[in-house]
Amino acid sequence: MSARLALTAVAALAAAGFVRRSAPSGSRKTVQYKILPSEGEGGLDEYENEALDLLDEVNIKASPEESLVFVAVRGRDQVIGALFASDEDDGDEPKRRFTVAVSPDHQRKLIGYELVRALEESTSELAAERGHPIMLEAWVVNPHMASLLRREDLGFDEGYRGWSQDDPMMHKWVG
Ligand SMILES: CC(C)(COP(=O)(O)OP(=O)(O)OC[C@H]1O[C@@H](n2cnc3c(N)ncnc32)[C@H](O)[C@@H]1OP(=O)(O)O)[C@@H](O)C(=O)NCCC(=O)NCCS
Repeated sequence: MSARLALTAVAALAAAGFVRRSAPSGSRKTVQYKILPSEGEGGLDEYENEALDLLDEVNIKASPEESLVFVAVRGRDQVIGALFASDEDDGDEPKRRFTVAVSPDHQRKLIGYELVRALEESTSELAAERGHPIMLEAWVVNPHMASLLRREDLGFDEGYRGWSQDDPMMHKWVG
């Protein structure tokens, strides 16, 4: 199975559903959105252009190998978050690289967090299916992304001196 197909098939298993968040302190505005694909959903082709525009808007690039795996959609079709990923299954360390972007108008509402959780859940299912762990890995260019991945409930590892632009890789074994 190609890397892209593996990701699409696994993403289709993810049942992230409709998410509604409210600020613990009351200071954070709620936003209603859904993470796609949810169970039984088709592909993400119709969201691809908007997701690529979102990357441009926040000024980051996904690597050419990465394809769109999850989107956060507000209303019928407004893409407010996107996660791109690629599989590197050759060798001893099966690895899934990923990149996340959230629209500036909707940042800090846990959308990036929910996208990473969706990837983690689908990767965990794939790891169970294959009977071996899979590494999630991100080339982190933004200190806010480092804080996100460091959250206790995600628990990504960073270099022994901590994340920096000089040591930007963060990773976590799943499964
Ligand atoms: C980095 C990015 C994806 C985060 O997405 P987000 O939806 O805004 O982040 P979340 O609301 O899910 O934040 C989760 C945690 O990350 C940390 N965090 C995120 N944004 C932060 C900010 N602006 N300041 C401080 N901490 C921040 C916090 O720990 C936060 O948890 P908390 O709100 O409970 O304190 C988003 O800011 C973005 O798209 N930035 C531009 C593109 C980019 O740099 N992508 C990363 C490429 S490696």
